[in-house]
Amino acid sequence: SRPKVVICRNLGPAMPLLTERKDINIVLWPEDRGCERAWLLENIKGATGVLVLLPDRVNEELVDAAGPNLRVVSTMSVGYEHIDLPLMAKRKIRVGYTPDVLTEAVADVSVMLALMAGRNDRSFNIVKNGEASWSPFMFCGPQLSATNTSPSRTIGFLGFGRIAQATLARLVPFGITHCIYTGSPNSRPDTARDAALQAKYNLKALERVDVDRLAQESDVLFVLTPGGKETYHLVDATFLRKMKPMSVLVNTARGSVVDSDALATALREKWIWGAGLDVVEGEPMITSDHPLVKEPQCVMVPHIGSATFQTRLDMATRAIDNLIGGVFGGEMPSEL
Ligand code: GLV
Ligand code: GLV
Repeated sequence: SRPKVVICRNLGPAMPLLTERKDINIVLWPEDRGCERAWLLENIKGATGVLVLLPDRVNEELVDAAGPNLRVVSTMSVGYEHIDLPLMAKRKIRVGYTPDVLTEAVADVSVMLALMAGRNDRSFNIVKNGEASWSPFMFCGPQLSATNTSPSRTIGFLGFGRIAQATLARLVPFGITHCIYTGSPNSRPDTARDAALQAKYNLKALERVDVDRLAQESDVLFVLTPGGKETYHLVDATFLRKMKPMSVLVNTARGSVVDSDALATALREKWIWGAGLDVVEGEPMITSDHPLVKEPQCVMVPHIGSATFQTRLDMATRAIDNLIGGVFGGEMPSEL
């Protein structure tokens, strides 16, 4: 009989890649909101594959509910902290994810937030609120571009993988010549890669540093590590206190890496200039009384890093290809 695959969210224009197949039995969560746990636990019984999203926890409970047929878990995300990888290894369940296809889109939003956080967040709404005004030093902030009178900012990356490097590439035309980074936990120094990047972008400095120096020296700090236990609250009060008063923090990675309460304090007490957040702890349920929402120098957007039509279609396609590869014991284009 045809293997059963459970799809936790309608994948819109990518759905025909599933529905036109005659060799699988598709069970699709029917509503346009996050898949309910009870529905998933019920429907995953006997499934060979499951396509999940970030909110769907893939743990012992889910694997046990699926039973022994389960061969593959495919997530439509580059992040995988919702998946218990040691458990997957133990149960010999393959795991697919969607790196590479979203690198450029997330790098775009990283630069967007760095630029926005370097102006004044209040200035972004007042035109539409009918309250616009102007004076010479109103709504000013620190400058990203280097000029004759304003030397290169030091760009810092917490995590220096694909998206960080694509972000760096975008900043070179802003006159950026100084870049420092702290590798994600478990990443190894790669001096050959760093030398090549330094030459390619004609940087005066590209240096792997410890977190203390990263905090102390970055003018714009991009958080681009994976989420999960190992990076939880790497940016905490201690880290933020070491940052420069005119510095900007951008998080396009995972909310869990940055301690929200500490960041709200840092902004309120002006330890740093501003923040640009695509992700925040507890998202998407952020209410208007959230301490960060109240901070005027905090720009917040709702996890739109990969939100272009093309990138989301590429992610869905990759997730489906991984799923089908895993279900039939074939190649998965992006397997963890
Ligand atoms: C988005 O946050 C992802 O992990 O793909
Ligand atoms: C590599 O240096 C990383 O942080 O992923």
